[in-house]
Amino acid sequence: MIDTHAHINYPERYGDEGALFAGLAAAGIEKLIDVGWNYDSSLYAAQQAERCPFVYFAAGIHPSNLADFQEGDLERIAQLLRRPKGVAVGEIGLDYHYDGTDEEAQKRAFTAQMELAHECRLPFIIHSRDAAADTLSLLKQNRRLLEYGAVMHCFSGSPETAAEYLKLGLYVSFAGPVTFKNARRLDEVAKIVPADRILAETDCPYLAPEPLRGTQNTPKNVRYVYEKLALLRETPLPLLEEQIRRNAHTLFKKLNGTDNGKI
Ligand code: NI
Repeated sequence: MIDTHAHINYPERYGDEGALFAGLAAAGIEKLIDVGWNYDSSLYAAQQAERCPFVYFAAGIHPSNLADFQEGDLERIAQLLRRPKGVAVGEIGLDYHYDGTDEEAQKRAFTAQMELAHECRLPFIIHSRDAAADTLSLLKQNRRLLEYGAVMHCFSGSPETAAEYLKLGLYVSFAGPVTFKNARRLDEVAKIVPADRILAETDCPYLAPEPLRGTQNTPKNVRYVYEKLALLRETPLPLLEEQIRRNAHTLFKKLNGTDNGKI
């Protein structure tokens, strides 16, 4: 199985890296995308990708980490993404959850990073929390920047919002929340996303799925997300795995390793 969005780039949380990689391989993780939230975590993800054959990475500044955003970061991120395993810009977007959020600064950083993705000819990974209307309008204003694709990560909105994102050509990715027992609205979304636009992820170390809710999440747990999606969509699990594998490689082209034939 592929975990399209994980944060194993937390050395203090996952302990010995060799043991982590071995455990993930033993659990059947074929590939995972290790996602940055600022420059340092993006760099660390890129280094992990060099140390582990099935780890790829995304680089970007998360909207809640704009305080870390420094002059020259966009150039440094573009530089990182030239590496063979740099598959996307991310995670980027809007997060209005916390009080005192500078919404305008978030919109500027999001737009600048969408432009960066386009210049790098890469897809981007969108984080949107309590900001669906502005996310949608920024995407609509910047439709041309969607040329290389994008995914709404850890989708948790309504079926109507999902339909809007799908109309823009986005992929929709599900994480732990789709396994939660009170997720009726999300269950509906999981049923309507077309087979060629669905992705799955853990967003670890956050959002551990049922039945492990409340524990530290790991990419191994992505199987609970796949299993719940298979159940909701009435799709045999191996077929769902194949659909998501194909979608991941279609959106994140560098997962194919065709860039330089090395990986
Ligand atoms: Ni994330």
